[in-house]
Amino acid sequence: MRLDKVLAHLNYGSRKEVKSYIRKGFVLVNGNVITDDDYKVDEASDEIVILDQVVDYQSLLYFVLNKPKNAVCATYDKTDPIVLDWIDCKQKGLFPVGRLDKDTTGFLLITNDGKLAHELLSPKHHVDKVYEVSFTGEFQSHYFEIFKRGVQLEDGYLCKPAYFELLDPQRGRITIHEGKFHQIKRMFQALQLEVTELKRISFAGMPLPKELKEGEYRALTKEEIEYLRKWNK
Ligand code: URA
Repeated sequence: MRLDKVLAHLNYGSRKEVKSYIRKGFVLVNGNVITDDDYKVDEASDEIVILDQVVDYQSLLYFVLNKPKNAVCATYDKTDPIVLDWIDCKQKGLFPVGRLDKDTTGFLLITNDGKLAHELLSPKHHVDKVYEVSFTGEFQSHYFEIFKRGVQLEDGYLCKPAYFELLDPQRGRITIHEGKFHQIKRMFQALQLEVTELKRISFAGMPLPKELKEGEYRALTKEEIEYLRKWNK
């Protein structure tokens, strides 16, 4: 991979900042100063030093948090608690992968691996997200077909096909492959239904670990990290 990309993904700075470090001669690969930012490195064998610091590939961290209500998916907020407040880890550079609304609970990946996050969020990869949803209003049987074809939101946007299962008259499970702002709430609104509870129960085929209560988290296992890295490849 390109040297500037590796460093930016490991959070040594933005792409622009790391390019500037490289051009100024602050980066060594296997002991040699490299000033070419598209120099190709092999993450498995090359030693990279930036600003006298050996790049530690192992410093990548991955957590799954069962997001509680009232936490916002951000790395800073003036008024509300942020999801990182629930993670007892002082390492800088952690961030939530994607956004859940403040009142949504469930599976939230938290990492400092910008590359993986970028891949999982890219519309190209169509990562599936499954939510349990409670709603008010009357669910009509032809709505299944509407979900399957794509719900048209009130602003005219035609959603990609979704899969919906009704579990109770006012509760169901929905799988979507995109992540527009308030997407599920707006899909339901377009069908005259109002979402009252929303919980993400699976992300990229990985279920929310059953043992995690709201506000609890755990590190991903090596196998889970590998699984996410290979997702859809
Ligand atoms: N759709 C929503 O409306 N809200 C979320 O938090 C996630 C998906």
